Amino acid sequence: MNNLPIPTPEAQVHSQRLQQAIVEEIAAAGGWLSFSRFMEQLLYAPGLGYYTAGARKFGAAGDFVTAPELTALFGQALARQLAQVMADSAPIVLEVGAGSGRLAVDLLLALEQMGCLPDHYFILDLSADLRQRQQQHIATAAPHLLARVAWLDGLPEEFSGVVVANELLDAMPASIVAWREDGIHERGVSCDAGGGFKWNERLASGALLQAAEEIGAQCSLPPGFESEISLAVRAWSSEWGHRLKKGALLLIDYGFPRREFYHQQRGRGTLMCHYRHHAHPDPFYLPGLQDVTVHVDFTSVIAAAHATGLDLLGYTSQGQFLLNCGILDRLAGITNGTPEYVRATGAVNTLLMPHEMGELFKVIAIGRGIDEPLLGFASGDQGWRL
Ligand SMILES: C[S@@+](CC[C@H](N)C(=O)[O-])C[C@H]1O[C@@H](n2cnc3c(N)ncnc32)[C@H](O)[C@@H]1O
Repeated sequence: MNNLPIPTPEAQVHSQRLQQAIVEEIAAAGGWLSFSRFMEQLLYAPGLGYYTAGARKFGAAGDFVTAPELTALFGQALARQLAQVMADSAPIVLEVGAGSGRLAVDLLLALEQMGCLPDHYFILDLSADLRQRQQQHIATAAPHLLARVAWLDGLPEEFSGVVVANELLDAMPASIVAWREDGIHERGVSCDAGGGFKWNERLASGALLQAAEEIGAQCSLPPGFESEISLAVRAWSSEWGHRLKKGALLLIDYGFPRREFYHQQRGRGTLMCHYRHHAHPDPFYLPGLQDVTVHVDFTSVIAAAHATGLDLLGYTSQGQFLLNCGILDRLAGITNGTPEYVRATGAVNTLLMPHEMGELFKVIAIGRGIDEPLLGFASGDQGWRL
């Protein structure tokens, strides 16, 4: 990876500590770790993982840019959809995986302007470091609303209202599976002679094998096809069937319906790493300093939710969803020709354009007890593709 920026000596020491912790875990596990466990440690090992240690992560000074980091118009458009779901369920928001807290601030300020502030805005984030950043950002950017915000330690037992998550599912651990002539293999990680990592596979078993067999048959996968399956995403989606009383989940992420996810074009899968705005496919590089993600198989999300009694309320591209939620009206509210307008126009282009985030990113809404068709899917709902 000789074209990537060199980390500072401190960052390299940090990365080596995580590498050593994982090497020890591999040894303790008998020499092999599933990729999903490896990915979980890369991202969430206490005090060492990418999300759980102090890396900058989001924005221009970080490793990647997410929609809320681009412009407040994203949250302002999304707020309209939140308001509709809250009016039909309960005035409560839960944001899962809130990152820097930008989206929370934009949503709260927009909902305040619309006269429909939630009674509570709950945040659930695995990262203690990010919780602190979220708290500080809200205290600075919307101090008068901080009292409505509370942080949860786990999913609520029962919930009514709206759950929102931007780029959460792609950050959940995934297994890597290879469909081979002699059966389905699970790819995992072992140590090489130099104290680094190397790929190592064994026959898949249990729930992963079952999922891989189903996908292989549905998508007629040829031998040699490799891709990811996230049992964590499925488990998280089905959990809501037991917890959501009335309301909706709005999940925004990059990914595809199953038949596109497991398509010949993607015969090496969707695993991607982000380091200082460079994208590459090597998860062994600089453990703890780079983001590691996989795309979302949205068919698995709705199948898991359906199995626990939830309904599909809508599925469309991010671009279509934001247009339906009136992002262009919001843009038109900014004085034409000002630097703010120029900046906002560029950001809205990035959010909407098919070759940028408009088409690869999708919005799926899943819920219970919501009778009104959702505003964000009024035009161009593609639920049939799942
Ligand atoms: C890619 S970041 C997205 C952050 C933010 N939503 C944004 O769009 O900028 C993923 C976030 O999800 C959090 N996260 C990952 N898995 C989670 C889980 N199971 N429960 C709660 N938070 C989680 C991470 O700590 C991080 O804040």
